Amino acid sequence: MTTQMIIRSGAAILAIALTLWAQPAASQGNPEQGKQLGFTCLGCHGIEGQRNAYPSYRVPRLGGQKSEYIEAALNAYRAGTRPHPTMKAQASSLTDADVDNLVAWLAGFGEAADKVTAEQVAGVPAAQICVTCHGVDGASVKPAPPTLSGQQEDYLVHALNGYKDGARSGSVMSAFAATLTDADIKLIAGFYASQDGVKTLD
Ligand code: HEC
Ligand code: HEC
Repeated sequence: MTTQMIIRSGAAILAIALTLWAQPAASQGNPEQGKQLGFTCLGCHGIEGQRNAYPSYRVPRLGGQKSEYIEAALNAYRAGTRPHPTMKAQASSLTDADVDNLVAWLAGFGEAADKVTAEQVAGVPAAQICVTCHGVDGASVKPAPPTLSGQQEDYLVHALNGYKDGARSGSVMSAFAATLTDADIKLIAGFYASQDGVKTLD
């Protein structure tokens, strides 16, 4: 093999690896069955501005949220690393196949990315570290970080406080939320909530 051939085959392998990496994980789920199961979910996630009672904050938007994240979040409620009692009850009654079906159904609402620009983020200094994973111009580290743009402002505050005070445990987010002041959290939540992104299910 000449050096050129080695370089060429190396480039080919890299290209194949990148193509595979770029493919969304093939969901095994059945969207029709997911839709049937999802009827209960719409009771909260399908009503614009629906509130969680105690404490009071708006139910998160799921339309356009990343599939991998929805699956990870459901598993976190199941495992108890996220404490919400209703979501824990909802998630615990689901089998792995149910989760796949729900994810397949929710994927039908599309995928919204964090399209914030570097210039915008420059105006929110505390968010600069966040975009190393959540992304600018729609390019997040794949697949784990959820889309924050368009999310309910008070839910973002609630989620960040949960990572900060340890109510949400076992997450890479704990370390980053720990560095935020209440004022940072308010500013970041307001910033992301005002962007175009995830939507209430309809
Ligand atoms: C009684 C209202 C209610 C119902 C019914 C409900 N949810 Fe939720 N869901 C919530 C609330 C409130 C939260 C935020 C919980 C928290 O603070 O962690 C949530 C969080 C979530 C999250 C995490 C979203 C994020 O951005 O972190 C996912 C995913 C989710 N729900 C999916 C579902 C699915 C799928 C169903 C149906 C099987 C369902 N939910 C049914 C109220 C509900
Ligand atoms: C190292 C990568 C990384 C960095 C840096 C990071 N995040 Fe995250 N973030 C994640 C991942 C992965 C998740 C989902 C996992 C979970 O809940 O444990 C997440 C979840 C979140 C959530 C929960 C959203 C929801 O729908 O429940 C919020 C809010 C959030 N991040 C905001 C931020 C903010 C604000 C910063 C900067 C201070 C930040 N993140 C920095 C990777 C990161």
